[in-house]
Amino acid sequence: MTADIVRLSSADADLVVRCRPYTEILYWGPKLRRFSPEDVVSLQRPVANGKLDVDLPLTFAMEYGRGQFGSPGIEGHRGGRNASPVFTTLKVEASDSSLIVISEDEQASLQLISELRLEPQTGVLQIRHTLKNLHHQAWELERLAVTLPVPERAVEVMAFHGRWLREFQPHRVKLEHGGFIQESRRGRSSHEYFPAFVVGEAGFSEQHGTVWGVHLGWSGNHRLRADVKTDGRRVVQAEALYLPGEISLGEGETCSTPWVYAAFSQNGLNGMSQAYHTYLRQSLIRFSGSQARPVHLNTWEGIYFDHDPAYIMQMASKAAEIGVERFIIDDGWFRGRNHDQAGLGDWYLDEEKYPQGLMPVIEHVHALGMSFGIWVEPEMINPDSDLFRAHPDWVLQLPGYQQPTGRYQYVLDLSHPEVFDYLLERLSWLLSEHPVEYVKWDMNRELVQPGHEGKLSADAQTHQFYRLLDELNWRFPHVEIESCASGGGRIDYGVLARTQRFWVSDNNDALERQAIQRGMSYFFPPEVMGQHIGHRRCHATQRQHSIGFRGLTALFGHMGIELDPIQSDDEELEGYRHYIKLHKALRPLLHSGTTWRLDMPDNTVQISGVVSQDQTCAVFLMAQLQMLNYSLAGNVRFPGLLPDTQYQVSLLDGPEIKTVREGGGAMRELPSWLRQPIVVSGDWLMQAGLALPVLMPESALLINIIKV
Ligand code: GLA
Repeated sequence: MTADIVRLSSADADLVVRCRPYTEILYWGPKLRRFSPEDVVSLQRPVANGKLDVDLPLTFAMEYGRGQFGSPGIEGHRGGRNASPVFTTLKVEASDSSLIVISEDEQASLQLISELRLEPQTGVLQIRHTLKNLHHQAWELERLAVTLPVPERAVEVMAFHGRWLREFQPHRVKLEHGGFIQESRRGRSSHEYFPAFVVGEAGFSEQHGTVWGVHLGWSGNHRLRADVKTDGRRVVQAEALYLPGEISLGEGETCSTPWVYAAFSQNGLNGMSQAYHTYLRQSLIRFSGSQARPVHLNTWEGIYFDHDPAYIMQMASKAAEIGVERFIIDDGWFRGRNHDQAGLGDWYLDEEKYPQGLMPVIEHVHALGMSFGIWVEPEMINPDSDLFRAHPDWVLQLPGYQQPTGRYQYVLDLSHPEVFDYLLERLSWLLSEHPVEYVKWDMNRELVQPGHEGKLSADAQTHQFYRLLDELNWRFPHVEIESCASGGGRIDYGVLARTQRFWVSDNNDALERQAIQRGMSYFFPPEVMGQHIGHRRCHATQRQHSIGFRGLTALFGHMGIELDPIQSDDEELEGYRHYIKLHKALRPLLHSGTTWRLDMPDNTVQISGVVSQDQTCAVFLMAQLQMLNYSLAGNVRFPGLLPDTQYQVSLLDGPEIKTVREGGGAMRELPSWLRQPIVVSGDWLMQAGLALPVLMPESALLINIIKV
C-alpha cells in the first residue's frame, strides 16, 4: 500500500496519517467503524487572518522551516548552515499496523526515516525517527523528537515527580497556554521525572475519561513536552535530551530517537495501563508468563556490608524454610567494600570475608532449592579503589575540572574501550566462574560533566550501558537482571527490554509503597515490580507497620523479603511464611490478570486489584491509608466482572479486622460479607457494590471474588 492517507488499525484505537507530500497524524482515537481516505477532507483547516498565508501541518518533524513557531521536532546545523530543514516524503511503506515513511530535505542533505507500529490488539503505538546525514560535512544534531498531535480536548496533564525514597508521585497540571516541560539531565531515567506522562479530557480519572499516554523508552537524559500552540492545537513531544556537541553525524551516519510508546484509552487510566501491561507482556518482557517469579530474599537491609559466609548460609537456610526461592547477596562481597566509601570498580571477591570463595554459599543456596543472585554496580568507581589508583583516567569527566562525588563515587567512561572490556571481563568472570542466576544491577549516582575525550558523552554512556547489558544477555541468557538505581532511578521500557525486574524504591515503608507502587502501575504490570517486606520499623522512615500491612503491600508484585530472618521474632517469621505462601497461591493470577485501580470518593481508602483474563476470579486490596474522612468507607463497585455470573465474595486476608468486642477500635459490627461469604451476581457487584469495612489507618485487607 502506498496511499497518501494511511490508516493503522487495532482492536480499540486507530491512527490516520497523511503521508504525502509531508507527514501528519490526522487522527489518533477510538477505532473507526467506517473510514475511507476521502473522509479526511472534513479536517481541512481554514487559514486564519493575521497569520502566515498557508496552512501549517503538524508534521512528524514539526519543522520550524514551515513556519511552526513552537517547539520544533528537529534542530541542528552544519557549521551554521542547513539549520532549518523541511522534509518532503519520498517513500511510504504501509500495512494495517505499520508505517515507514522516508522523507528528505535535498537542500540540507538530510533524510528522515519514521517508523510507526500500532500493535493490533492493544493499540499501543510504537514510534521513532531516524535522521541520516547525506552530506560529506557533519551535521550537528541538537534535538530530534517524536511529536504526536492530540485533540483540543486534551486539556490536562498527569506527570510524575519524585526523589530517592519517593518515586512515581503523580501530579496534575492544566494545559491551557504555553507548555508543560519536563527535562532530566541526570544520565538516567531518574527518580525525579519518570519519562512519561498522560494527557486527557478534563477530569479524567482511573475509570473515566479519554486519555493519551506517552512514554519514552530510554534510560538516559530526556525531555518531554505537552504544548498548546497559539492556534489552540495541542502536541506532545518526547525525545532523548542531547547535551551540547554530543551528536555530530558524519556522512551516512544516523541518529535514532528512542522508541516512544503511546497508548490511547476511552476508559480512563485503567484502559491505558491495561493496554501497556498487555503490550509489555506480549512484546517486551523477557520471561514467559509461565515462568513464575521466584520469591526473593535480599540481604541488604538485613546485614548491609557485614558479610560472614557462615552467617549468610544460616540466613539462607532460614529463608528456604519460610518459602524463599531466590537468595541474593547484596553490596559488600567484593574487595575493599566494608562501607560505601571504597571498593567500587574492584570486582574481585573479598577473600578476607570469603576465604573459601563464593562457591560454598552458592552451593548451600542451591542445595536448599533456591537460585542465587548477587549485586553489582558496574558503571561506578570509588576514588578509594585499586581500579582508580591504576586508572584515574577511566572516569567519565571533562579534563581540567574537579568532578563532585556522589555517594563517594565517580562514574566510569563506558565509551572508553578498555573500560568496557574490563567490565565485560569482570562480569563474565563472575557469571561464568559461579553458577549465578540473577544479578541486581545498581547505579547510585548521577552524571555530572560526563566527558569522553574532552566532549560531553551522556547519550553515548547510556548506549554503552545498553551494549554491556546486551552483550551479557547474549553470553549468559539464563541470568536474570534487576534494574536498580538507588531504588527506582532507572525504570523505563528501554532497560526493561534488557532486564527482568525493577527495584522500585529503597523505601520499604508499606504506606509509602502504596503510593509508589500505584504510581508505577500506570505503566508497568505487577510482575516486574520488586516489592519486599521490610523490617517492622522501616529503615527509610522509622515508621512501624504490622506484618499484615507490610505483607499485603508487597503481595501483588515480584515479591521478596529484605531483612535478616534470623533476627526476626516468631510472629514476624510466621508472617513472612504466611504472605509468601499466599503470594505463591495468587501469583499466577496476579502476574497474568488485568490490573484495576479504582476511583474512590474518599481518598483515604485505596483499592486496586487484579481480575483474571477469563473474569472468573479476582482479588482486590483495600488499603486504609489514613483515618477515614467519614465514619463509613462506603460501597465499592468492582470493575471487570461478568454481569451474568454469580460470584462468591469473601475475605481472603485481613489480620487486623476486629470488632470493638474483639479488641479492635474502628467497628462495632462487621459488614455481613465479613462474617460469612456471600454469593451475588457480577452485575450487582459492578453496579451496586460491596459495603466496605471501617479499617484502622495503615492497615489493609484482601477481598476474594470467585465464580461459583
Ligand atoms: C542502592 C540500592 C539498594 C542497595 C544499596 C547497596 O542504594 O538501591 O537496594 O543495593 O545500593 O549499596
